Amino acid sequence: MHKPATPGGSTAPRQPWWRRAAIYQLYVRSFADGNGDGIGDLAGARAHLPYLADLGVDAIWFNPWYPSPMSDAGYDISDYRGIEPVFGTLADADALISEAHEYGIKIIIDVVPNHGSDQHPWFAEALAAGPGSAARDRFWFRPGRGPGGDLPPNEWQSIFGGPAWTRITEPDGSPGQWYLHLFAPEQPDFNWANASVRAEFEDVLRFWFGRGVDGIRIDSAALLSKDPNLPDVSPELPPGPDHPYSDRDEVHDIYRAWRAVADEYPGDRVLIGEIWLPDAARLARYVNPGELHTVFNFPYLSCPWDAPELRQVIDQTLALNAPAGAPAIWVLSNHDVDRIVSRYGRADTAFDLGRRPYFHSFPADFDLGARRARAAALLTMALPGSVYIYQGEELGLWEVEDIPDELRQDPIWQRTGGADPGRDGCRVPLPWSGTEAPFGFSPAGAANEPWLPQPKQWRDLTVEAESANAGSMLRLYRDALRLRRSEPALGDGPMTWLPSQDGVLAFARGAGVTCIANLSDGPIGFPPHAEVLLASAPLTNSLLPPDTTVWLRGLV
Ligand code: NOJ
Ligand code: CA
Repeated sequence: MHKPATPGGSTAPRQPWWRRAAIYQLYVRSFADGNGDGIGDLAGARAHLPYLADLGVDAIWFNPWYPSPMSDAGYDISDYRGIEPVFGTLADADALISEAHEYGIKIIIDVVPNHGSDQHPWFAEALAAGPGSAARDRFWFRPGRGPGGDLPPNEWQSIFGGPAWTRITEPDGSPGQWYLHLFAPEQPDFNWANASVRAEFEDVLRFWFGRGVDGIRIDSAALLSKDPNLPDVSPELPPGPDHPYSDRDEVHDIYRAWRAVADEYPGDRVLIGEIWLPDAARLARYVNPGELHTVFNFPYLSCPWDAPELRQVIDQTLALNAPAGAPAIWVLSNHDVDRIVSRYGRADTAFDLGRRPYFHSFPADFDLGARRARAAALLTMALPGSVYIYQGEELGLWEVEDIPDELRQDPIWQRTGGADPGRDGCRVPLPWSGTEAPFGFSPAGAANEPWLPQPKQWRDLTVEAESANAGSMLRLYRDALRLRRSEPALGDGPMTWLPSQDGVLAFARGAGVTCIANLSDGPIGFPPHAEVLLASAPLTNSLLPPDTTVWLRGLV
């Protein structure tokens, strides 16, 4: 087979695409609505593929698109081999995959192996089959404790709040066993010690790889294996081999098997783990040879806008991936966390999933946040490896914090009794065009309003408005992605820190490009250079203003 030549005509082996890709996270429900029911769908995504090609992304990651009762926005799957009817059909997905490929864009889908939906046929079978049955063994059914089994089997808490167990009624009408759900009660956990669960998911992977999907984002990837004794766990016990459900050693067997499946297919199929772990050395184990290709980088996404802290996270990320030769992944936001314009505009610029109400207690200065988000975008896109962009990040959308309670849909809101506002604020439908809601999200004359209301001020943040504005976030993202693609020094490859003053991050990408991010309070000078490739804000008197990043070529 003919192999494309590498730049410069060298004979170096061709690198897999995912080592340097810019990957756009497309949250289907909120991207674009093709049929006017107020909910995004595959027809809407197909119609906007030219937008994504023009933006300059190499791949799209779709959040779950399968049939689902939507108790957790599609992370509760009732059929792993289909498409949610609200989103379209399998034929739409096939067409989307092949049209994206024609644009040179790869498709990554989300697979959710830790839990299914309580509407999955296996769960119905398990309820009907009764205690001790093979059908129940695919999940975690256990008798309750205490007189009459009225207490849950243990004290585990759901990650969404409340107990991690729900009691069922047996087919004969008697109060029955309890089942485990680390998330919402509608998301029963699968038992990965059961061979049929393993076989089923390997088959699901083959189903989608066979349809041309280029990669799999693995949801909650560290949670699959459980201690069969289901012991209580103190909240202080870190994930790891002694933890009853997080980051147990057995989970690696599962990914070795998945890697073997991915390797059956041509064309560099990629496995990406969604893994939140405090211990970088434990996280690194997932990219060991023969396991996952990459793991998400949550320390970077949670890091405050602070030079020493960012530098530490960058070094730690590179060190973590180095032994396995895996590329780093850089992510500023996703559908689970606050949008960066809000985050960087607050007095505390960190983020932590467990402390959302605390962060929301600070007012957000959107101008400051947007300025920093621009600087962060150039910093991030200059780092070695691949980069993820969560839809709307390229428009500078902010976290919508004033969604009326009755419209909120995130189970976190429900299960914490409103103490935690949840994730709806980063999932508001995108503004495409026009000056009034739905801003082109739905076609003109649509029957329904968007499933979450869009702020009026987003009339200035539509794709249409930003395309026409040379100083917009969208134009910055387009320029940066174009350069990132055309400059061989960017993407995968070496990086070297350069000496810099406090509050400044400066590094060289090979001999080609230098990135300088000024997170200090005052303007700074920067070294003589041949060319300014791109800056996140205008440079004044040859100085780099605060909260600004610049890409330079040819230091002299
Ligand atoms: C992580 C996903 O990103 C999140 O949206 C989901 O609620 C949980 N996993 C449970 O599947
Ligand atoms: Ca729709």
